[in-house]
Amino acid sequence: MGATALVLAAGEGTRMKSDLPKVAHSILGIPMVGFVVDAARDAGCERVVVITGHGADLVESLLSGVEFARQDRRLGTGHAVMCAQETLIPVRGSLVVLSGDTPLVRPQTIAALIAQRERHGAGAAVLTALMPDPAGYGRIVRDEAGEVTAIIEQKECTPEQAKITEVNTGTYCFDAEDLFGRIDRLTADNAQAEFYLTDMIALMHAEGLGVVPLVADDARETLGVNSRIQLAEASSVLQERINARHMLAGVTMIDPRLVWIGPHVEMGRDVVIEPMTFVLGSSTVGDRTVLGPNTRITDSKIGADAVVDSSVVLEAAVGPHARVGPVAYLRPGTVLADGAKAGTCVEIKNSTIGEGSKVPHLSYIGDAEIGRKVNVGAGTITCNYDGARKHRTTIKDGAFIGSDTMLVAPVTIGEGAVTAAASAISHDVPPGSLAIERCEQRVVEGWVARRTVGDHRTKGE
Ligand code: UD1
Ligand code: CA
Repeated sequence: MGATALVLAAGEGTRMKSDLPKVAHSILGIPMVGFVVDAARDAGCERVVVITGHGADLVESLLSGVEFARQDRRLGTGHAVMCAQETLIPVRGSLVVLSGDTPLVRPQTIAALIAQRERHGAGAAVLTALMPDPAGYGRIVRDEAGEVTAIIEQKECTPEQAKITEVNTGTYCFDAEDLFGRIDRLTADNAQAEFYLTDMIALMHAEGLGVVPLVADDARETLGVNSRIQLAEASSVLQERINARHMLAGVTMIDPRLVWIGPHVEMGRDVVIEPMTFVLGSSTVGDRTVLGPNTRITDSKIGADAVVDSSVVLEAAVGPHARVGPVAYLRPGTVLADGAKAGTCVEIKNSTIGEGSKVPHLSYIGDAEIGRKVNVGAGTITCNYDGARKHRTTIKDGAFIGSDTMLVAPVTIGEGAVTAAASAISHDVPPGSLAIERCEQRVVEGWVARRTVGDHRTKGE
C-alpha cells in the first residue's frame, strides 16, 4: 500500500509580517506549499491531504489534485494533525507529515524516510538535520542506542538541551494507526499552550513503538521558512540547485547567481543565459537559444536558435530562429513563427507574426494575424480598440506596411499590398495595391529667410 502525505499549511506565519499566509509566499514563481506537495507526489505518495486554516481559501486556490482538511483554530501542529483525521480515514501504513514551510525537501529524501520507518517497523521515522545554528528548531534527544526519545521545542529547552545541534526538520513518517491511536493524548501543557506534534515522539518512544532518525545529507534541504530572511535563503538554495541541474545538462550561464529559473522549466542543449534573466512557470527553451541579458520569460515556449534580448515574454510562443528585442514586450497570445522578428520597443499581444515577418521598431501589434514575409515599418500601430470593443487586423503574405501606418481595425491588407508611410488605413486594401492616406505636402519657398529677418532673438540682442 502506497504512502499518504499530510501537509501542514494552516499557520499564519506571524514572523513573516505579512498579509499573505506564509505558505502562499512564492519562491521562483511557485508558492512554498506547492513545492512540498510536488515533492510528496514525486516521492510516490498516493494521497496528499493539505491542512489549511489561515487564508484557507487562498491557499487552497493555489493547489490542485490534492484533498483539503480545515483547522479552524490554530492550536499547534499536533492539533493540525487531529483536524485531518476525519479526512484521512481510512488510512493505514505510512503517513508522511510535512510542513508547508519547508519548500526545499526533495522527493528522494521523503522516499528514504518512508523506507527507513518501514524497514525498522517503527512507530515513526523523523528527518533530522545538523544545524550549526539550531535556534528556533526543536532539538532531537537520543538515547545510547541512537533512538530518538523526544523532541524538545526551543522554548522548552534546558540550557543543556539548547546546545544540541541535531534538529527536528518537521518532516516525519508515522505508522498511521500508531499515530491516530494516541493523538488524543497530546496536551497543550507547554510554553506556547499549543498541541505539539513533536510530543508524539516521546509518547511513542515510551510505549516502545520505536522512533528512528534519518539525518538529512544536506541540512540546507530542510530549511524551515519562518521569516523573509529565510525565504531569501531558500530562494538562493533553490536557485543554485536548479541552475546546477541545467548547467550539468549543457546550459551556459555567464553568472549563475544572476539567473533565476523556475523548477518546471525545460531547456535544450547549448542554451546560453546572460545575467539578470528570469525564466519561470511552464516555459520551455529550445537548443542553442540565447536569453538575456535583462530578460523575463513566463509560461512561454521559446524555439531553438532564437535570441531574446532585454525583453519581457509572457504566455507567448517564440518560434525557432526568431529574434526578440532589445526591449520587446510579448504579451499573452503572441506567436512568432520561424524566423520572425519583434525588435526594439515593440509590443505585441494576441497576434501571430508569420514566418520570416518582421516588426523591427517601435510598434504596437494587437489582435492581428500577420502572414509570411511581411515587413511592418517603424512606428506602425494596430488601432485595435475603439473604446468599447477589440477588432482584428489581418495582413496577408508579402505585404509592406510603411512606417507610421495606423491600421484602424477591423481592416485587412491584401497579399503583397503596400501602405504608404504615415497613412491611417481604415478600409481594406486589395492584394497588390498601394494605399496612401496623407495630406498633400505644401512647400513654402524662402520661408526660413523671411522668418529670420526681423527676428531679434536669433541675432542675440
Ligand atoms: C516546527 C516544529 C519544530 C521543528 C520546526 C521545523 C512543532 C511543535 N515544532 O516548529 O520542532 O524544528 O517545525 O521547521 O511541531 N501549522 C498548522 N497549524 C498550527 C500550527 C502550525 O498547520 O496550528 C503549520 C504551519 O503552517 C507550518 C507548520 O505547521 O507550515 C510548522 O509550523 P511552525 O509554526 O512554523 O512551527 P515551527 O515553530 O517552525
Ligand atoms: Ca516553521
